[in-house]
Amino acid sequence: MRVGLTFNMRREAPEDAQEPPGALGADTRAEWDTPETITAVRNALAERHEIIPIDASEDACSQLSETRPDIVFNIAEGDSGPCREGYIPSILEHLQIPYTASDPLTLNICLDKARTKEILAYYGLPTTRFRVVQEKDFSFNSLKYPLMVKPLYEGSSIGIRDNSLVRTGEEMKARVSSLLDTYREPAIVEEFLPGREFTVAILGNGADARVLPIVEIVFDSLPHGVNPIYSYEAKWIWDRSSDPLKIFECPARLEPELRSEIEDLCLSAYRIMRCRDWCRIDVRLDSSGRPHILELNPLPGILPRPEDNSCFPKAARAAGIEYNELINGVLDIACRRYGLI
Ligand SMILES: Nc1ncnc2c1ncn2[C@@H]1O[C@H](COP(=O)(O)OP(=O)(O)OP(=O)(O)O)[C@@H](O)[C@H]1O
Ligand SMILES: [Mg+2]
Repeated sequence: MRVGLTFNMRREAPEDAQEPPGALGADTRAEWDTPETITAVRNALAERHEIIPIDASEDACSQLSETRPDIVFNIAEGDSGPCREGYIPSILEHLQIPYTASDPLTLNICLDKARTKEILAYYGLPTTRFRVVQEKDFSFNSLKYPLMVKPLYEGSSIGIRDNSLVRTGEEMKARVSSLLDTYREPAIVEEFLPGREFTVAILGNGADARVLPIVEIVFDSLPHGVNPIYSYEAKWIWDRSSDPLKIFECPARLEPELRSEIEDLCLSAYRIMRCRDWCRIDVRLDSSGRPHILELNPLPGILPRPEDNSCFPKAARAAGIEYNELINGVLDIACRRYGLI
């Protein structure tokens, strides 16, 4: 087959680049893929197919309409704004070209953590209470401290720092104000779940959707005295491939009952949000040990090197699925969904 590969490549800013005051935080490029990841995906797909690489930051629409691949493997996170992940899939819908992963509706909704929680709550799935804040002049007292303050539509822990866990109104206001200034998007303030944290990789569609071995985020591996959250510092600063943190346990050590409860919860969330082909879902336990959905990642991170601590490839490896097999497996799942196999 002729397989398109759509991506956004991370280009490091020159070291002496001065960001203008109020510019987006320096962490905003974290969700884009590195040349290494894009090459790894391309090489995996090239084992079986002809590959047409398409940089989503360039004129993707003309490239796609001119080359018309049989199917596109989409890992493009998009440039900016709350609908950025839907950009490439929307073009593909328009051109009627099949593609991997979720449609623009699901991608855009899942990027908005509040809209996602509203839908999950409608279906009775456990997720913590929250408020969306758009302006600095706000007040509410209906949530119970401690709280987490996050940008509304980011990923890769962009804007989630060790000080995102706040214990007082003053701390919360300061953090909200800093996020509004830095990211120029609303903030979501939500109740903190103090229990264990897991991330759950799902592969497949319909009755074939299956959960890979669950990954636990082990906070004991973080530097002494920091908050138990998988923050930007934990993902990108304290964890280096030259000196990786032992932050994942996979398969997580879980009583069978709790394991099934987490698996069922994640499969329900996957179906309710109409995810396709694959997705990684973050879950955390409340003070009484019950799992709650934190958020869904329908374009999961897929760093290729085992020492780079990437949850989806890690879960796949624990299931005996190596990286290239995972990438080709996702393509096959999408092909089956379109009746191409
Ligand atoms: N309500 C909460 N209670 C407890 N911890 C939380 C809560 N919200 C976020 N966290 C912590 O912050 C981390 C990052 O939050 P979240 O998963 O919402 O951000 P993200 O940037 O979308 O992550 P990803 O890298 O998975 O895209 C979580 O993994 C968790 O450790
Ligand atoms: Mg997350």
